[in-house]
Amino acid sequence: MTPHPSCPAGARACPGLRTAAADCRGCPLYANATQTVFGEGDVPARLLLLGEQPGDQEDRQGRPFVGPAGKVLTRALSDAGIDRRQTYTTNAVKHFKFTIPEGRKRRIHKSPDLRELTACRPWLLAELRVVAPELVVALGATAGKALLGSTFRVTQQRGALLPWPKLDENGEADEGIRGLVATIHPSAVLRADDRESAYQGLVSDLRVVAEVLDGQRGT
Ligand code: URA
Repeated sequence: MTPHPSCPAGARACPGLRTAAADCRGCPLYANATQTVFGEGDVPARLLLLGEQPGDQEDRQGRPFVGPAGKVLTRALSDAGIDRRQTYTTNAVKHFKFTIPEGRKRRIHKSPDLRELTACRPWLLAELRVVAPELVVALGATAGKALLGSTFRVTQQRGALLPWPKLDENGEADEGIRGLVATIHPSAVLRADDRESAYQGLVSDLRVVAEVLDGQRGT
């Protein structure tokens, strides 16, 4: 597999985990998806970006955030002063969940449920152990709920440095993580009536991330 130009480490990241995840049957989503879409990027990385689940393009290409939302993400990171090549990108759920409405051909994204999020959690914990990030960015409500539980509200909690929850009973996956910053999902920019203001909101939240990494904001 050719590494993504914006992620030089590309498919070389976490080879053992990636191979194991390719055969995951932990929930029924594998049956209709093309493949497992594991995370990729720098390992270790100071920043781990967590999305919801692969979209249509990601499912076909087997790589996270390579479709339209990924393009928004890469540009917003750059505008916030963050180089995506120095990050690790993954999703809370590693298979594409979709429906095909009757009489249509296009696959329509469906949000993963709690059971699917829970089934996929061991992969995220394994990635956190290997990537050992200082900071995690939750991209959208599902990623936020995967980390902070069902009470998480992106509208209320975005753009601030939040305490890192204890996710791993052994503590290994949590070690060294200073916190998390939540923001909107990049695809929300593409759906917004006012795309420019949604985009600027995303960049502004990511600037908080850059400031934490630069040591200008404490934990
Ligand atoms: N949306 C996500 O949450 N993740 C991807 O990888 C692509 C779109």
